[in-house]
Amino acid sequence: MVGASAFGSIAEPRTQPAPFEAVARRKRVFSGIQPSGSMTIGNYLGAVRRWVRQQHERQSIHCIVNLHAMTLPYDPIDLRRRTLDLAAELIACGIDPEKAILFVQSEVPEHTELTWILSTQTMFGELGRMTQFKDKGRGDERVGSGLFFYPVLMAADIILYDTDSVPVGEDQRQHIELTRDVAQRFNSVFGETFVIPEADIEKEGARIMALDDPTKKMSKSGGPANYIAFMDSPDEIRRKINRAVTDSGSEIVARDDKPAMKNLLGIYSLFTDTPISELEARYVGVGYGQFKRDLAEAIIEQMAPIQARLAELQADPDEIVRILNRGTERAREIATPKMEQVRQVTGISLKAGW
Ligand code: TYM
Repeated sequence: MVGASAFGSIAEPRTQPAPFEAVARRKRVFSGIQPSGSMTIGNYLGAVRRWVRQQHERQSIHCIVNLHAMTLPYDPIDLRRRTLDLAAELIACGIDPEKAILFVQSEVPEHTELTWILSTQTMFGELGRMTQFKDKGRGDERVGSGLFFYPVLMAADIILYDTDSVPVGEDQRQHIELTRDVAQRFNSVFGETFVIPEADIEKEGARIMALDDPTKKMSKSGGPANYIAFMDSPDEIRRKINRAVTDSGSEIVARDDKPAMKNLLGIYSLFTDTPISELEARYVGVGYGQFKRDLAEAIIEQMAPIQARLAELQADPDEIVRILNRGTERAREIATPKMEQVRQVTGISLKAGW
C-alpha cells in the first residue's frame, strides 16, 4: 500500500506518496464491463480506449461486472474463464493496474449491499422504463428479476466510489441518468452522501454498429458475424470485414442514408486516427472490395501488439488473479468506509457515535 491512499501511486512517485486528500481532488472515473464474451471493438472504441487515455490524469476505477453477467442464462465455468480473459484483455489494451484500480465486482460485497439499499429508493416504474430491460426481457414474465434490478446494481457500482465521471458508450446513457436520479433522491432523503456522477460519452465511437446490420449496436450477444473481438485471428477479421453488409450503390461516404459505410468509415477513422473526410477523399472511385481489404488490414495492424501482449498475459492466469486481488484491496479501501457512512445515515448501523 502506498501512503494512505488507494491511488497513492498515481499522483506521486513511489518515494513520496501524496496524502489522500491531495489525490482525492482529482476527478474520479468509474466504469464497468461485462465478462459475457471476448471484448469487441465496440467496447474498445466506445469505452476502453478512453479508460486507457484517462488513467494518466484521473483516478480511474474499472470493474469487471460479473454479477451483471449473471442476469441472463450463463455457464459458471465460462463465467470464471471469461472474467480472467477480460482482465487480460483490458491490461493488454493498456489499462495499467498500477495506475488504475482493476477489480471484479463480486469480490467487493459492498456493491450488493448498496444495491439493496438503493432499491428502496428506486421506483418500480423507473426500472420498467429502462430500454435494456424491455429489449432483453421482451415482456417475458419468466425473465429473472435480476435483469430488472440490473440498473440498481449499476448505480451502486458507480456511486459507491464517489464517482465524478462515467466513460461509456451511448447505450449506457439511460442507466447513468437513472443513477443520477437515485443518488439525488437518496441525498435528499438521508442528507448529502453521494457525489452525483456525469456520463462521459464521446461523439466518435459512442455507437459502433453491427457488421451484419448497421441499424443495430455491435454486441457480443449478437452472434459472431455481428462483431469483431480481440480474440479473433487476422483471418477471422478479414473474413468478417469482407462479409460486412454494405449499402446500395458504390459510394464510400459517411452519410445517414449510407449507414453501413458510415459505420465502417467510423471504425476505420478511429483505428487509424484519420479524419473521415480524408478517408472519403481517398476512396473516391474505389470499390468496396479494396476499401474492405484496407480496413481489415488497418484493424489487424492496430490489434497485433494488443493480441501479442494478451497471449503473454493469458499464459500466466495466476498473475491475473494476483492483479485482481490487489485491485479488490484498493477498491475496498474506498468502498468499505463509504458503505459504513451509508449504514449510518440510513439507520442500519448499530455503531455508536452517529
Ligand atoms: P458492456 O459490458 O455492454 O459494455 C462495456 C462498455 O462498452 C461500451 N459499448 C459500446 N460502445 C460503443 N459501441 C458499441 N457497440 C458498444 N458496445 C458496448 C458500453 O457502452 C460500455 O461503456 N451495464 C454496463 C456495465 C456496467 C457499468 C457499470 C458501466 C456495470 N456497472 C458502471 C459503467 C459504470 C454494460 O453492460 O456494459
